[in-house]
Amino acid sequence: MASDTSLASLSPTYILPEDMRPQLSKVSTLKSIPIIDLNEDLYSQNGDHGLSRIVHQVSQACEEYGFFQIINHGVPEELCQKMLTAITDFFNLPSEEKAQYFSTDRTKQVRLFNYHLKASEGQENIKMWSEAFSHNWHPLENCTNLLPKNPPQYREVFDEYAKEMGRLTNRLLSLMSLGLGLEKDCLVKKIGDNPRLRAQGNYYPPCPDPELTLGLSVHTDLNALTAVLQSEGVTGLQVITDGKWVSVDPVPNAFVVNLGDQIQVLSNGRYKSVHHRAVTNKEKLRVSLAMFYGPNPDTWMGPIEELIDEEHPPVYRRYRHSEFLEEFFRQEGTRRMVKDAFQLRNN
Ligand code: OGA
Ligand code: NI
Repeated sequence: MASDTSLASLSPTYILPEDMRPQLSKVSTLKSIPIIDLNEDLYSQNGDHGLSRIVHQVSQACEEYGFFQIINHGVPEELCQKMLTAITDFFNLPSEEKAQYFSTDRTKQVRLFNYHLKASEGQENIKMWSEAFSHNWHPLENCTNLLPKNPPQYREVFDEYAKEMGRLTNRLLSLMSLGLGLEKDCLVKKIGDNPRLRAQGNYYPPCPDPELTLGLSVHTDLNALTAVLQSEGVTGLQVITDGKWVSVDPVPNAFVVNLGDQIQVLSNGRYKSVHHRAVTNKEKLRVSLAMFYGPNPDTWMGPIEELIDEEHPPVYRRYRHSEFLEEFFRQEGTRRMVKDAFQLRNN
């Protein structure tokens, strides 16, 4: 891909059919996703209990948007900057050096790859205007020595970052558990032991024609919870709210948090896993780092029993997560509707 990025016009392998193009002029700039301040002290002064206020805000955002941004989240700003620099430096390595990581084998622990969309019969797949670099972030001691040696700080910075993100994702999952009226460790327990934690860097170079292509096609995340760190000052991520595309403007020192399909299932449809995409722009490089938290393939998933009663019959059937993954890969390259395949039709 690196060789294509200096082109003055877009190479045909990136050009989407007309009905799949982003239609950037129709993207709403009026509305965006909620920004939630996670600093509990802020609310305790006026007698309002800080925690319950945050639980309420998170819960409302999960029900209405499936997406929100968090500020005052406790992860040191300097560490986030270092992490963004390390991942950007990795993507900026010469393509010969990056080639050792390039693989189409999705079982690879550490992997550089391109996303694509399936084209119509007889045509070549359409490439997305991005590169993705993915590896585990848990258990950390098993991943660190598989990570790139170059840039030289990558391993050390990632190690520290992953520890912080472990704490943050646990805190978010307990806020969501409380929001659903459950014990605070309920979601972490249901997602289960040996969760599958993957980190994914996304690299979107400036693009000659952002109207004709996408950086990341429309999708929902298949895991349970995602926390994204993104370049400052460049927009790209867009989310569907009320049937319209809205952009998620980067807020300094914030994370974008979104729910994946497994939380939608666990919450029996109360919390939403929402379609999103990344668009490109002509001027600026954009980099993001998504930390995915999801179940192990052996774990059983299904609506949490406490959330089911006569008024709320189960919306999804139970399944082993490996089954969900199979369906996910079966739908690869399409506008995936994986969770629909696990929906019960009798309600
Ligand atoms: C993802 C994703 C958005 C972004 O990696 O699943 O949606 O802003 N990334 O790069
Ligand atoms: Ni995503």
